[in-house]
This record gives sequence, structure tokens and C-alpha cells, in this order.
Amino acid sequence: MLEKTRTFVMVKPDGVQRGLVGDIVKRFEQRGFRLVEAKIMRVDRALAERHYSQHQGKPFFEELVDYITSDSVFAVILEGVNAVAIARSMIGATNPAAALSGTIRGDYATSVEYNIIHGSDSAESVEREIALFFGASDGV
Ligand code: PPS
Repeated sequence: MLEKTRTFVMVKPDGVQRGLVGDIVKRFEQRGFRLVEAKIMRVDRALAERHYSQHQGKPFFEELVDYITSDSVFAVILEGVNAVAIARSMIGATNPAAALSGTIRGDYATSVEYNIIHGSDSAESVEREIALFFGASDGV
């Protein structure tokens, strides 16, 4: 039996506004992921600043916080084989100009400022981000 791990994914405000949540969930389910827990929510500035704390001081930080707090996001815990790496490859490069067609950003995004979706980049980030967005609850 292959070991399954978890990852955290967030459809950002532009993805929710454009009605892309259903397609994005479908892509992950078709790839073999299970949804453990999911919710539509607003991210306040305190949560945004903690989530992106490693980017504090970078030129895009304030813009990134403004963007992520501007409207609802869809936060989801996914479970599957090699979850972090496979979800990241499905999401595609951070800058959509470099994202291949067939990836989520390659199919739907055109700018690094509004790139549709976030995915945890390591097992440590998964733990931290699930705790930030879902607290002590760890789904079923
Ligand atoms: S870095 O500097 O290499 O660590 O940054 P990177 O990992 O590429 O991106 C971190 C998150 O910041 C977002 N980002 C930006 N937002 C606005 N403007 C600009 N120029 C910009 N560059 C990067 C990027 O989408 C990443 O967000 P997440 O949610 O982690 O994907």
C-alpha cells in the first residue's frame, strides 16, 4: 500500500471570483487526491501576514497581502500519494509565463500577481499552513 500524505491548497480570490473552484477540485480528484477538509473563507490581514511571513520585506509583500485579503478564498486539505510534489506540479510555475499548458496556472493565469492558486511547498509548510487555516482539526 503506497503511503499517503497531505498537502494544503488555496484557490485565491481571483480563482474563486472566476468560478474555477469546481474545475480545480475536479482536477485534484481525478488525479487521485481525497478532499480531507475544505472551506470558503475570508483571510484577514493577521492570517495573511502569518501565512506569507517568509516574504515579509519583499517588494511584493503588501500587494500579496492586499490581494489575498480582497475576497473569499477556497482552502482545502488534500490527501494522496506524494501529495506536496504532485499538487505543486499540477499547479505549475509561480510565474504563469513559465507555467506549462495543462497545469492550473498554465491554463488559467497570466500574471504572477494574480496566479489563481497556492500550494504548500514542503512537509513543514503543510503542517504550518493547515494549523493556520484549519486549526487543531485534522479532518476525517
Ligand atoms: S520568492 O521570492 O522566490 O520566495 O517568491 P515565490 O516563492 O516565487 O513566491 C512567493 C509567493 O509570492 C507571490 N509572488 C508575488 N505576488 C505579487 N507580486 C509579485 N511580483 C510576486 N512574486 C511572487 C507568489 O505568487 C507566491 O504566492 P503563493 O501563494 O505562495 O503561491
